[in-house]
Amino acid sequence: MYKIALLPGDGIGPEIVPQAVRVLQVIGEKYQRQFEFKTALIGGAAYDATGHPLPEETLELCRNSDAVLLGAVGGPKWDNLEPQLRPERGALLPLRKKLGLYANLRPAVVNPALAEASPLKEELVSGLDVMIIRELTGGLYFGEKHRENLPDGGQKAVETLEYTTQEVERVARLGFEMARKRNKKLMSVDKANVLESSKLWREVVIKLAEEYPDVELSHMYVDNCAMQLVRNPKQFDVMVTENMFGDILTDLASQLTGSIGMLPSASLGGEVALFEPIHGSAPDIAGQNLANPIATILSAAMMLRVTFGLDTEAAAIEQAVNQVLAQGYRTGDIMQPDKTQLGTVEMTDAIIKALG
Ligand code: IPM
Ligand code: MG
Repeated sequence: MYKIALLPGDGIGPEIVPQAVRVLQVIGEKYQRQFEFKTALIGGAAYDATGHPLPEETLELCRNSDAVLLGAVGGPKWDNLEPQLRPERGALLPLRKKLGLYANLRPAVVNPALAEASPLKEELVSGLDVMIIRELTGGLYFGEKHRENLPDGGQKAVETLEYTTQEVERVARLGFEMARKRNKKLMSVDKANVLESSKLWREVVIKLAEEYPDVELSHMYVDNCAMQLVRNPKQFDVMVTENMFGDILTDLASQLTGSIGMLPSASLGGEVALFEPIHGSAPDIAGQNLANPIATILSAAMMLRVTFGLDTEAAAIEQAVNQVLAQGYRTGDIMQPDKTQLGTVEMTDAIIKALG
């Protein structure tokens, strides 16, 4: 019995998470696996119902589950709440922190059928398969922050960027391990020419490399990395970087694959692993059966592989997605000329049909 906590959240979250559940249920029947689903509130939906975007019961459910599948949080309705109650800062970041999920795996893989949907030239992206590992519980997003009033009537906003040796080492270790399983190349991304935290980052990574003589380690400044990702993305294999750089670079990398609606992620390192699409809650298209469910369905596949070790089942889902795309089915975000546009539910129907 695999116990899965579902946190649909806001916007398109409550549309896409049930689609991933449908796929998992079909997998369960087909391969004789028992999945137990329990749902809890998070984000704006939780705030509306309980007054807090991350209720204690939600954390409890996550801790008592084998894995967590999250949709997305946030939306204009909650944008003006005080920062600690906003879905992003009051729910998503503390959820990651409280569950100890310091490593976020964001694979950017170009589906063969979608190479021409990328805004980049097809030859630059076709065959691309990059794994970006983003540090997820440190850095600027978690540092002490405050405002001060200035005598000139203006204000000063202060953020703090901290990293410790141990925080860098544990996520870098995952980078080396991942590189070992793939092409034995690791790119560490920092801004060591300017930031003290990046200087420490680089020192720690270089020291750790002694334990991985079989992995070829390189370093790149984050600004150059952004440029290289659009100039020649296939030079990369496994990348590891700090929280904010990873946040930005993974949105960029998502476009190499055609759409941010395609990319799954896994957050690891804690008591329970969390899987979520890297896209947000897309309030502009919520409730209209327009959202692309593939990133969430692929996140469920990642869950099967990474947490449950169900490689065959995970591969079956990934193949079904490939097949449906090869057949010419698309959601709006990846629509191309002469293809067939489907809604959220119908795209999932097609994937389920392809599962056979
Ligand atoms: C992401 C998102 C979040 C982040 C936001 C919603 C807080 O952009 O998962 O990449 O910055 O981590
Ligand atoms: Mg982001």
